[in-house]
Amino acid sequence: MDYQTILYDYEAGIATITFNRPDKLNALNQEMLAEFEDALEQVRQNPEIRVLLLTGAGRAFIAGADISEFLQFGPLEARQFSATAHEIGFGLSALEIPVIACVNGFALGGGLEMAMACDFIYAADTARLGQPEINLGIIPGFGGTQRLSRLVGKGTAKEMIFTGRMVDASEAKTLGLVAQVFPADNFMAECRKVARSLAAKGRVSLSAAKQAVDRGFDLDLRNACLLEVDAFALCFASPDAVEGARAFLEKRPPNFG
Ligand code: COA
Repeated sequence: MDYQTILYDYEAGIATITFNRPDKLNALNQEMLAEFEDALEQVRQNPEIRVLLLTGAGRAFIAGADISEFLQFGPLEARQFSATAHEIGFGLSALEIPVIACVNGFALGGGLEMAMACDFIYAADTARLGQPEINLGIIPGFGGTQRLSRLVGKGTAKEMIFTGRMVDASEAKTLGLVAQVFPADNFMAECRKVARSLAAKGRVSLSAAKQAVDRGFDLDLRNACLLEVDAFALCFASPDAVEGARAFLEKRPPNFG
C-alpha cells in the first residue's frame, strides 16, 4: 500500500510511524486510519522489529479526528468510525513489542486516545494534550473516557473531558499521563535513545512484562499476581534468562538474541 497520510520506516529494529498531514495538524481521517491499520499489520508481521514509535509531522502528533468528516455522520457512521478506531487501538495495545507515543505537539481527542493506547507517552515540552470533544457537542469516541480515567483517575479524567481543556506537558507529567518530557529541540533523538535501549533488551522478557501489566491491570490483586507468576516462569523458557544472569556474573553487558 502506498501511503498518502502517514510515513512508515524501520531501521535497526525500530519502526516509526509518522502521522503526516501537517497542514491539517495530522487530523485523523478515514484514509489515515486505514493506512495506520495497514502499517500496524506490517509491524506485526516483521519479527525484526523490536520497538515501535508513533509521532507526528509538524506542530501536532494528532489534533483529533478530522472534524470535516463529522458533517456527513449519522449515528451509524459515527458508530462505525468509533468501532474501527477502537479495534485499531486494541490492535496497537496488543502488539508484543513496546510501543511509545512520541507526542511532539498537539495530541487532542483521537490523538490523545491513540497515544494512550500505546505502552507509554513521551512528550516534547511544547506538547499540549486534551479531550476537547465536549466543545463540539460530542464525547471522546476512541477510548478516551476509559483509558484517560485509568491513567489519571476518574475525577481528573472527568474534569478534563467535561471542560475540554488542554494540559501542557509538565501538567501531563504530574498527572501521570506522560512518562517523561524532553526538550522539543532534541525530542525525537531522546525518544530514539530510549527505543535503542529497549531494542537491546530481551524480546521475551519485554513481552512478558507488557502482558503481565496489561492483562493484570483489570484483575483483582491475587489473580493478577498469579498471572505474574506464570509470566515470570515463561521468561525462564528463553535463553535470555541464562544470558542475563551469566552476563551479570561475568561482569559484562548481556547480549540478548
Ligand atoms: N479536524 C480537521 N481539521 C483540523 C483539526 C481537526 N481535528 N485540527 C486542526 N485542523 C486544521 C484546521 O482546520 C486548519 O486548517 P486550515 O488551515 O485549512 O483552516 C489547520 O488544521 C491548522 O489549524 P488551526 O486551527 O489554524 O491551528 P491553530 O494553531 O490556530 O489551533 C488547535 C490549533 C489544535 C487548537 C485547533 O486546530 C483545534 O482546536 N483543533 C481541533 C481540536 C479538536 O477539537 N479535536 C478533537 C476532534 S474530535
